[in-house]
Amino acid sequence: MDLEQTDRTEHARQLFAKRFGKRSSVSVRAPGRVNLIGDHTDYNDGFALPMAINRYISVAGAASSGGSVRVFSEAVGAEAVLTVDDPSIHPPGWERFAAGVLHLAKEAFGGLPAFDAVVISSIPKGAGLSSSAAFAVALVGMAEHFTGRSLEPIAKARLCQKAEHVYAGVPCGIMDQLAIIQGSRGHALLLDCRSPDSISVPIPADEVTLLVIDSGAERALSDGVYADRRKECEQAAEALGVGALRDSSLEMLESEKAMLDDTQYRRARHVVTENNRVQAFAAAARESDWINAGRLMRESHVSLRDDFEVTVPELDLLADEAEAVGPSGGVFGCRMTGGGLGGCVIALAKRGAEKPISVRIAKQFDRAFGRLPTVHHVRGAG
Ligand code: GLA
Repeated sequence: MDLEQTDRTEHARQLFAKRFGKRSSVSVRAPGRVNLIGDHTDYNDGFALPMAINRYISVAGAASSGGSVRVFSEAVGAEAVLTVDDPSIHPPGWERFAAGVLHLAKEAFGGLPAFDAVVISSIPKGAGLSSSAAFAVALVGMAEHFTGRSLEPIAKARLCQKAEHVYAGVPCGIMDQLAIIQGSRGHALLLDCRSPDSISVPIPADEVTLLVIDSGAERALSDGVYADRRKECEQAAEALGVGALRDSSLEMLESEKAMLDDTQYRRARHVVTENNRVQAFAAAARESDWINAGRLMRESHVSLRDDFEVTVPELDLLADEAEAVGPSGGVFGCRMTGGGLGGCVIALAKRGAEKPISVRIAKQFDRAFGRLPTVHHVRGAG
């Protein structure tokens, strides 16, 4: 555990003592994630290359005799008494989601003792860095502790994914949860979202650096566009006669083009080509071929912009500026990351080049939007 994280754990413990007037007995944490390449592929049974990052949700807690679960969220600045047996009593929002996660955990473990907890976060909210999935994974960690039971990583990821579907109204894939649960220091995870198997891919910090640049354009996955895209992909798969777009090649898509309308065709083309790019990126990274890896990131951004239509002007400007800097200026590649329609881009840069790049990109962004983006220098964590 690094020093910063030790401080955060201590902060959560102190906050717990202040809030509940007793000492906490357990601390758990779950990292956020950034996706290097492979977006909108997970719910198409495809491939993705996410990485757990050194930004965390930290929870401190202790058993309680009060009969209910109480959670204080520092970010929200509020405490909730959770109705774990009937989460839908809570209005949509973080309380329903937390109650929902614990409801599913209680079902899985055959019971859940009462406990109190405080939650603190260093994952920027609404930035597409999976603070919500990390929150769920951390809550299940608390439930594991208080029940003395545990879940296998994939079962845990599925439980947290189900909580998003049922209690947050987001029909997400499984990438975020798997990345958070299985991530390890200095590595990204090559995920096959169908099996779901994963292989670690080293991202050596002495060669490259990862900058997550937050556009500040807030994104909300529950606003319907994400669900629309998922539906369009399913329709495209059906028209192609395959179980999921993962099963279509580019050749097949081209030869069956007449079966799809233009929107379905473009959505499918993104997914099919993105799956190929993920494999190619992982192969390039293994050979430290960062030039090629960066080129694939650019292609991914263009595909998400033109075919999948989930970028916004803020993301396009950041990606274009990074592209203009190019490898000679220290940027191998840059793309939007996560669900899109706001949030962040990720830039793969030469080690040591982060400062000048950030300054240059921020200047252009300020000129266009009258404010500065936030730059996070992240590394693979677990
Ligand atoms: C969100 C979802 C993921 C994934 C990405 C896009 O982060 O939670 O399951 O679909 O969008 O790749």
